[in-house]
Amino acid sequence: MSDNKATNITFHAGNVTREERAQFLKQQGLTIWFTGLSASGKSTVAVALEQHLLHLGVAAYRLDGDNIRFGLNKNLGFSEADRNENIRRIGEVAKLFADSCQIALTSFISPYKADRQQARELHEKEGLKFIEVYIDAPLEVVEKRDPKGLYKKARAGEIKDFTGISAPYEAPEKPEIHIRTDENSVEDSVRIITEYLQKEECYIPNTLKRTSTTHNSLPSINASIVRCHASGTNFS
Ligand SMILES: Nc1ncnc2c1ncn2[C@@H]1O[C@H](COP(=O)(O)OP(=O)(O)OP(=O)(O)O)[C@@H](O)[C@H]1O
Ligand SMILES: [Mg+2]
Repeated sequence: MSDNKATNITFHAGNVTREERAQFLKQQGLTIWFTGLSASGKSTVAVALEQHLLHLGVAAYRLDGDNIRFGLNKNLGFSEADRNENIRRIGEVAKLFADSCQIALTSFISPYKADRQQARELHEKEGLKFIEVYIDAPLEVVEKRDPKGLYKKARAGEIKDFTGISAPYEAPEKPEIHIRTDENSVEDSVRIITEYLQKEECYIPNTLKRTSTTHNSLPSINASIVRCHASGTNFS
């Protein structure tokens, strides 16, 4: 589905560079890419993070797996090929959000390393930061949570190609952030990510940094933070 059928097309650049856009909007765009098993907490953490960032005055918008499948990706199922295309489209859409100087928060199982790598490369070749957040909890924990009853159905054979049961999940080897949600609360997770963004000067120009205080009220944390691909332009 990703075969290139578009011919006779010419890219039409705008009059405003990304640097100028960032200065006008006082914000740098990037993508925070959540990956993990179903019920690991991707959507829950992304919702809380989006709210927190907006309270800080930072434009952020969630692209959520289920939500996107109601519209843009309603023609895709859960076969490997459809999952590849699902993630390819989301990688492209997230890149557009990041290019527009917003923070895109994507919460998709995105079980295949190669798909996530493709999304990363799409961003990094355009100088846009891509922060992979592995939302991790053991299968027995997520199966016990089972907020949508999907594991039960998968175990009963009512859902085929279910990640972790009848389809693979390829865990990230070097995510920028690795959070165990069986060991950290939602507030902890938001704080871990926010502190990472601030430490790496990933998103907040100095003017906004000075007013960013609400994260201080969040509780203490326990998680591993691995690395940041700090490619691209730094506006801090
Ligand atoms: N520390 C935690 N962090 C995140 N979620 C948690 C945590 N502890 C318990 N939960 C619960 O785990 C469930 C996570 O569900 P959520 O829909 O966020 O998962 P998901 O990774 O988005 O799954 P899916 O891939 O199916 O969309 C929720 O019911 C949430 O309340
Ligand atoms: Mg979800």
